[in-house]
This record gives sequence, C-alpha cells and structure tokens, in this order.
Amino acid sequence: MENLKAQILKNKVPTHLAIIMDGNGRWAKQKNEPRIFGHKNGVNSVREVIEASGDLGIKYLTLYAFSTENWNRPKLEVKTLMSLLVSSLKKELKSLQENNIKLGTIGNLNDLPKSAQKELKEVKEKTKNNTALTLTIALSYGARDEIVNVIKNISKKVVNNQLAIEEINENIINNHLYTFSLPDVDFLIRTSGEQRISNFLLWQIAYAELYFTNTLWPDFKKENLYNAVLEYQNRERRFGKTSEQIEKNQ
Ligand code: FPP
Repeated sequence: MENLKAQILKNKVPTHLAIIMDGNGRWAKQKNEPRIFGHKNGVNSVREVIEASGDLGIKYLTLYAFSTENWNRPKLEVKTLMSLLVSSLKKELKSLQENNIKLGTIGNLNDLPKSAQKELKEVKEKTKNNTALTLTIALSYGARDEIVNVIKNISKKVVNNQLAIEEINENIINNHLYTFSLPDVDFLIRTSGEQRISNFLLWQIAYAELYFTNTLWPDFKKENLYNAVLEYQNRERRFGKTSEQIEKNQ
C-alpha cells in the first residue's frame, strides 16, 4: 500500500474531492445482517478516507451522508443513521482537532433532530480555525433544493434593489450556494457500481472527473482511495480546451 501511495504526485492531487458513499445496505445484506450494520461499518470507511485525504494533502473533502430523498427510508433506519452521526462526531472530535480538520455541513440542517443539530454546531464551532482539511458533510442535502434556494435568495436581492439583474453571473451564483466557501469539485467518486449523480452538487461538478467503482462503501479503504487518485492523475482535464493547448499551457 505504501508503494501505491508513493506513486501519487503530491502536486497533482484533487483540491476538492467529493464522494457519494453508496452500498452500505447491500454490504450488510451480503452478510445477512440488518442494513444498519452496513452503515456502522461505513463509518470506518469515512475515517479511512478522511485520514488518507489528509495524508495526500487534499484540502477539501465533501461526503454525501444523507440526501433530501433519504427521509423516505424506514423510520428506524433514519433514526439510527442520525444517532450514528451524533455518536461518530462525539467520538471523532479529538482526532479532528489533532489532525487540524475543520468540519462544515451543507443541506437543510433544520430538518435534523435537535441532538444532531446541537452536536454539529458544537463540532463546527470547535474546529472552525483548523486549516489542513475542510471536511464537509452533506446532510438533508439535494442539489436541486440548493439551486431553488439560490434563486430565491438572489431574487430577494433583486426585488430589494440590492442587486441588478445584469450583475447576475456565475460568481454571484457560486456565492449563494451552500458551498460558497468551497472551490469547484475536481474529482467525484461513487462506490457500489451505480453510475449516477443522485442530486449531488450538480452545479459544482461541472468540470469534475467522475470515478465509479464496484466496491461497496464499507469495503472502501485507503488503498481504494489511492487507486482512484492515481487514475485521476492519469486523466487529462481540458476544461473545454484542446490537448495541444493544455500541453503548451495556454
Ligand atoms: C449509502 O448506502 C449510505 C448512506 C445513505 C449513509 C452514509 C452514512 C454513513 C457512512 C455513516 C454516517 C456518516 C458519517 C459522516 C459519520 P445505502 O444505504 O444507500 O446502500 P444500498 O444502496 O446498498 O442500500
């Protein structure tokens, strides 16, 4: 594994890595266990990926933990996922501090149980001055919902004469997204073999490289991340330009 890590060029790692953590339920089913057993083991993968991202010098890591659609899951699963989130935050605060990691969230936090809101607020406050890695957890998040909010907030400013229609541009939109303080996503990973975006960061992934792997989330470990980043480094990002222009750095 060290060998794998050594092949990664430190100056070419994605600045912002986003992950759709999928397959916890199937992983548990394969083992004849309840779905929540998959989520519990998924937390270990979250820890591995945070550590490995920090080691590689990735600056922003955004994890899709709970979508606006996930509220439709069985009540018990939702409840257990929420308590898993709270207990993980409690348990990991010390290591977030030790590793200089700042916690952030995107999504409708008001929908979450009060206990989760309180824990998140506390951990965000305590880690706000950390600078090595910004870890953002998407909770009750949906990209369309985010875009609707952007439009409402920009419209309010127009109506109140704080902003002219002619002034609306990509920058203004960026600044109204939940992710206003984060750069665009460079690399998006989805586990479990599904090849879709599922309403995650639609605006922010415009130029991201996409990576799909059959590995189920609880099996996704440091080594899997190193392999994914190696593939990222082998891709040519052109942002609409030609290969020749990229080679000449134009
Ligand atoms: C997807 O698997 C996973 C989720 C919806 C939840 C992810 C949550 C965690 C890993 C734990 C808590 C998170 C943090 C940040 C501490 P799935 O249930 O959709 O799996 P399936 O598609 O196989 O059913």
